[in-house]
Amino acid sequence: MSVLTDCLSPRLLAGTAAFITGGGSGINLAIAHAFAEVGADVAICGRSEERLERAAQELRALGGRVATAVADVRDPEAMNAAISHAAEKIGPLSTIIAGAAGNFLAPAHDMSSKGFRTVIDIDLLGSFHTARSAFDQLRTTRGNIQFISAGQSDNAYLHQAHVGAAKAGIDSLMRHLAAEWGPYGIRSNALVPGPIGGTEGMKRLAAHIGEQPWTDGIALGRFGTPGEVAAMAVVLASPLASFVTGARIAIDGGLALAGSGLVNRALVQAGTVNGQISDGAYSSPRPQVHP
Ligand code: COA
Ligand code: NAP
Repeated sequence: MSVLTDCLSPRLLAGTAAFITGGGSGINLAIAHAFAEVGADVAICGRSEERLERAAQELRALGGRVATAVADVRDPEAMNAAISHAAEKIGPLSTIIAGAAGNFLAPAHDMSSKGFRTVIDIDLLGSFHTARSAFDQLRTTRGNIQFISAGQSDNAYLHQAHVGAAKAGIDSLMRHLAAEWGPYGIRSNALVPGPIGGTEGMKRLAAHIGEQPWTDGIALGRFGTPGEVAAMAVVLASPLASFVTGARIAIDGGLALAGSGLVNRALVQAGTVNGQISDGAYSSPRPQVHP
């Protein structure tokens, strides 16, 4: 038993199938767990077969059917094949989670074009490939797609220009698909996790400054858990959210209320990030604003 099945029927999503990119680890794996706990069959996709197999073993222990598909979301053909394979194994797909992403801290003025493009390719193009490949499935099931966005989309964080641009693109894609695919009965939404403890994402973002500059800005005063994001994904996929589309739903303990200021200040004070940065620009006096 878990909080999820204490609150919701363990058969809430029985007879449905979900496909989750990046489902081999972190938040996306927690989403796969949560779907399996309420009766859904799940397919997970990522680049590492070993990681997917490890995750699949955990998921099979929950009792439902589980499929894995090794695919890079940057490759549209591979995504077509992954979606077809998943549908063959676990049945018509009614929920798609576009969760695969890449992140690293890098100052924009030092980042190579390839570095910027890599994150746009994985996050934004990868989400588009996933959605496009899944359209026929979603049309058949009158299903829903959930994109995983991030606070960087609308709050400016230092050394996150590539991620912010990619996630803002994802939010826009989500809204456009909500409008365009609504007439097919397909819902399109985005989840916006705040800092989630124990994840690869937060390891990378807190590496130079620790957790406190993040938690200080969170109204609820703590990191979230992967399960808290997953619970929202389950509700959003269920008939409980049958009139919800085009929504960007924050699961961030209120971080968006405070914005990125505390984290940015801590990054400046840290002085260096990955051995790069601060050439003094941040510590010299800001230009005067004329009265
Ligand atoms: N700082 C600046 N640029 C960086 C960087 C860093 N820390 N890490 C990668 N890059 C840039 C480089 O320019 C690199 O190009 P190069 O080969 O010319 O140096 C480019 O990104 C591509 O890196 P590469 O390692 O070849 O890409 P990849 O496709 O194998 O991996 C990443 C993608 C870089 C995003 C990798 O970190 C990854 O696989 N991440 C997945 C897990 C993750 O990020 N989880 C958190 C999700 S929020
Ligand atoms: P994670 O464990 O690293 O998850 C990312 C997953 O994506 C991995 O399983 C990875 O597997 C997969 N992936 C990466 N590149 C891929 C590619 N090209 N093709 C296919 N799969 C790929 O990180 P996480 O922190 O849990 O993040 C999960 C999601 O939540 C991301 O969308 C992230 O932006 C978002 N988010 C996280 C936080 C947080 O606090 N962690 C906050 C806001 C938003 P392989 O490497 O094996 O392919």
